[in-house]
Amino acid sequence: MNILILGDIVGRVGRRGVKEVIPRILEKHMVDFIIANGENAAGGNGLTPEIAQELFAAGINVLTMGNHTWDKKEIFTIINDEARIIRPANYPPGTPGQGYGIFRVNGKNVAVVNLMGRVFMAELDCPFRKMDEILLELQDVDYIIVDFHAEATSEKIALGWYLDGRVSLVFGTHTHVPTADERILPGGTAYITDVGMSGPLNSVIGVKTNLVLQKFLTQMPQRFESASGPYIVSGILVSLTEDGKAENITRIQYIEGE
Ligand SMILES: [Fe+2]
Ligand SMILES: [Fe+2]
Repeated sequence: MNILILGDIVGRVGRRGVKEVIPRILEKHMVDFIIANGENAAGGNGLTPEIAQELFAAGINVLTMGNHTWDKKEIFTIINDEARIIRPANYPPGTPGQGYGIFRVNGKNVAVVNLMGRVFMAELDCPFRKMDEILLELQDVDYIIVDFHAEATSEKIALGWYLDGRVSLVFGTHTHVPTADERILPGGTAYITDVGMSGPLNSVIGVKTNLVLQKFLTQMPQRFESASGPYIVSGILVSLTEDGKAENITRIQYIEGE
């Protein structure tokens, strides 16, 4: 089972990037299933039904979310019914949408779970204990894949160890900056702290550079906008064996024009 993961898709540039890059990846690699983080896909904040459809049409099978899940109010019209959109599972009980989904891929059941960190972020329920609960509900699936949407590297690495041998893959999102620590942990779980973003190359994590600089220089409120220009598309390719363990994790990156 070969899985392609693409990091946070930021705005129009990120969407153009994944639409152009996915066919190039599929030409070179066997890919059975594509997961991307969609929390920034609509103008940098949130996701709309139209943009979700645009990304599914580009070949993405599942969109995971994060702290920007609720930024576009249109999300509420689909989040309860669209099984391919997964929001952090550790929101309090009663929150719209679903925290994980099970998808049929080549005769296997693949579970995709989204969790959000609590260090330097909103105080959701404990992602570690929430995952313990979810694993009890996922005993019959073949592969479990976790998007841990979190800020602190320590919290992400800790969850990787906590889930080692219990899931197939833990990948990080949210910082929009890829880390070089991809590896297979001793129990057979593939792990990376952050896969990076799919968005504007010349930006501050997707946002127009001058607006972010103004914010840092003046500490005055700024309305952030996604940057334009060339894209960078960042992600990982992961191969999983029949027994649900990982045998390879490779970082990929495509820069427009290179
Ligand atoms: Fe993000
Ligand atoms: Fe985020």
